[in-house]
Amino acid sequence: MKLDQYSLLKEKLNSDKYSSIFILVDDNTDKFCLDIFKEKSGVKRFNKIIIKSGEENKNIESCLLIWDKLNEFNADRKSLLINLGGGVLTDIGGFCASTYLRGISFINIPTTLLGMVDAAHGGKTGIDFKLLKNQIGVFKDPLEVVLDSEYLKTLSKDEFINGYAEVFKHSLLTDNPDLDFNSLIKKDFYKDVDFIISKYSEIKNEVVKSDKFESNNRKILNLGHTIGHAIESYSFMSNSINELKHGEAIIVGLITELYISHKQLSFPLSDLENIKTELLKHYKVISFSDNDVNQIYDLMIFDKKNEGSRINFVLLEAIGRPVVDKEINRELFIDSFKYYNNSL
Ligand SMILES: NC(=O)c1ccc[n+]([C@@H]2O[C@H](COP(=O)([O-])OP(=O)(O)OC[C@H]3O[C@@H](n4cnc5c(N)ncnc54)[C@H](O)[C@@H]3O)[C@@H](O)[C@H]2O)c1
Repeated sequence: MKLDQYSLLKEKLNSDKYSSIFILVDDNTDKFCLDIFKEKSGVKRFNKIIIKSGEENKNIESCLLIWDKLNEFNADRKSLLINLGGGVLTDIGGFCASTYLRGISFINIPTTLLGMVDAAHGGKTGIDFKLLKNQIGVFKDPLEVVLDSEYLKTLSKDEFINGYAEVFKHSLLTDNPDLDFNSLIKKDFYKDVDFIISKYSEIKNEVVKSDKFESNNRKILNLGHTIGHAIESYSFMSNSINELKHGEAIIVGLITELYISHKQLSFPLSDLENIKTELLKHYKVISFSDNDVNQIYDLMIFDKKNEGSRINFVLLEAIGRPVVDKEINRELFIDSFKYYNNSL
């Protein structure tokens, strides 16, 4: 199946609906994706805003640059911002659009697999603050999300695999036998990519539809992220482990949180072992010292999803059967890293 959703967009972009159009890119999507987008969308009049790529630039400085450009080119409430990039760019772009003049419209055109299956959907926008992930942000839906796997042709293999972390997560949250983890690992990650983008982004969209502001069911999408985000933040501030990509940190988060699920909710050991083996075929194993693990635990206290000093986890009773708001103690957390490190 070829994903082509440009026809509606073409009409919109070339009508008088918008007073001005801005396209936000980073240094890579400027080079690799902008020409494809221009050709497919037929967009003619626009101003380009370019920011530096990478999670380290998902910050207020990039926002200042974007707001400054919107000002310089007289953006008004009828302007449109098109975010052409991965999850970092759609998170920042969505946030800047939602706050500029109390909110202008934006469209997401994800160009990484992670963006296509996850980040571009669901209306969570934001930036990192003082090394804490997504600490500042708002909920605001894009007008549209255009999914086009052609952009993936220039994505590095590492970034492609990084995106699969969120696909794995979605496959652990569904009990649909055609999409669950055991069915996903039989797929060809490259040849089946259009199927994967369409089906696994749908899983996220269905969950979001049921609970937009994360008061209940949407919390299940945080599987692997309570520990994963803390690991990601820690990797930026510590010299003891290398900086990790979002997906790499989420994979450690999934394995450790499934171990905790096994201990607390009797998640089947055979599934746990199988999932760990399969995931570690695709991702390098990171070595965590006792000190690393203790510091990661402390960082979790600051996670925005926690209420007061409670650390709330999403755990699984079985594949496709998540349970939210589970608490754990430091000891079990430490054991989960021992399990990950094969030192239990
Ligand atoms: N809002 C949400 O619901 C949500 C969900 C999941 C993840 N996220 C966020 O998404 C971010 C991670 O997203 P990501 O992995 O897409 O990172 P990213 O946006 O940093 O992209 C990864 C790298 O690929 C480059 N790139 C992008 N498209 C390319 C292309 N087509 N060809 C060549 N290079 C290309 C980028 O410039 C960057 O260097 C994290 O900040 C995470 O917090 C948000």
